[in-house]
Amino acid sequence: MKKKSFVWHPNTQMKEWDSFNEIVKSKGMYLIDSDGNNYFDAVGSMWCNVWGHSKPELTNAISRQCKKLQHSSMFNLTNEPAERLAKSLIKISPGMHKVFYSDNGSSAMEIAIKMALQYWNNIGETKKTKIATLENGYHGDTFGAMAVGYVPEFFGKFKKQLFPTIQIPVPNKYRIPKGYDYLDYQNYCLDKVEKKFSNDDKIASFVMESGAQVAGGVIIFPKGFQTKISKLCKKYNILLVLDEIATGFGRLGSMVQYTEQKSIPDIVSFGKMLTGGYLTMAATLANKKIYDSFLGQFNDWKHLFHGHTYTGNPISAAVANENLKLYKKNNLIKKIQKTSKIFEEYYDKILEIKTVGDIRHKGMLMGIELVKDKKNKTPINPKKSINKIFFEEGRKHGIYLRTLGNIIMLVPPLAISEEELDFLLNRTMDTIKSAENKTT
Ligand SMILES: Cc1ncc(COP(=O)(O)O)c(C=O)c1O
Repeated sequence: MKKKSFVWHPNTQMKEWDSFNEIVKSKGMYLIDSDGNNYFDAVGSMWCNVWGHSKPELTNAISRQCKKLQHSSMFNLTNEPAERLAKSLIKISPGMHKVFYSDNGSSAMEIAIKMALQYWNNIGETKKTKIATLENGYHGDTFGAMAVGYVPEFFGKFKKQLFPTIQIPVPNKYRIPKGYDYLDYQNYCLDKVEKKFSNDDKIASFVMESGAQVAGGVIIFPKGFQTKISKLCKKYNILLVLDEIATGFGRLGSMVQYTEQKSIPDIVSFGKMLTGGYLTMAATLANKKIYDSFLGQFNDWKHLFHGHTYTGNPISAAVANENLKLYKKNNLIKKIQKTSKIFEEYYDKILEIKTVGDIRHKGMLMGIELVKDKKNKTPINPKKSINKIFFEEGRKHGIYLRTLGNIIMLVPPLAISEEELDFLLNRTMDTIKSAENKTT
């Protein structure tokens, strides 16, 4: 039975969603509601779940830490779990030197932007104040994050308050402008980057998701694209800020996506999977050049003016430490690379479905783009929200789905088994087929 909610839910037209299924417990890949219905968690509880739900090692790490120290501020003090985690993060992130903690991905990106802008100020290059980004990127819902990840439909109402950014087109293989092939268009985008960089010495940094745009509809970057951007950043003395909040920690099949993309950044953010999806925590890592620029006498006022109440929370850090231990113990990255091949076996079958225009997949992430007609690639556009239709239809097939626009997102817990992934893909296909008459 659905329950009336006193909560104002995120990104939700509350008139359409007047009541909600109440989740009361969870186990493995499943969320269980108050009527005892089991739902396969196809979105990894907003793309952050690693091991499935109620993993004893993680819940024990939380309760052990709860008994020792629940919270102690990072202002003037430090704590052991946060220090241990910072050391581990630096170890897995080539080129990085220090870790700044926050509570969520949007904040981690705000911090990244502040670090990048203040760096130039710290070294006396005060004219470098502009930020360049890729069109269609997403970096969170706070003001700085909205400015660098500007999605007109979502954030248009705040446009006047957002700082302007320089936007570079992104090569979306499925929707290449007329007159280009995929390779031509990649070169066109990279030329645009170089033109902007070479004509504007006020650009302070380039901000982009690492490996793929996720919320932008699973746009996977072609091989070499990110590497070339990172080289252009070096050539024109522009800081590279990478967002690995959704794509790092194995989501795309590498622990740290920028190593696979051969693009060492100046600043990088992690979040979502950092705690295995159990507690809220994010981290912004900076290289030594950035960090050192903030050092000085107290009244030089060069320090980073940013801090949250729960920065470096020991319980979150303890579960993140246990999570990292499990990655190693279970050789999770290798396992993801192997399990991910199951997606490939379904490409043809999914593409045969009448309303499927395209599928995009990397690692443990798949986007299925739904269209009215395959030839013209017109997105489906039903009267009711697509998300609502697929949520209800998915529920009937025992899966919890959330779509992004006309794209079905499959972002399951990273440790999903081959059998579980087979199950999820079959149920997803059944859902798309049975929703056909509601979406066309
Ligand atoms: C790439 C990226 N950056 C930042 C964020 C914001 O993270 P949070 O929702 O934890 O604020 C998200 C969230 O989906 C994301 O996908």
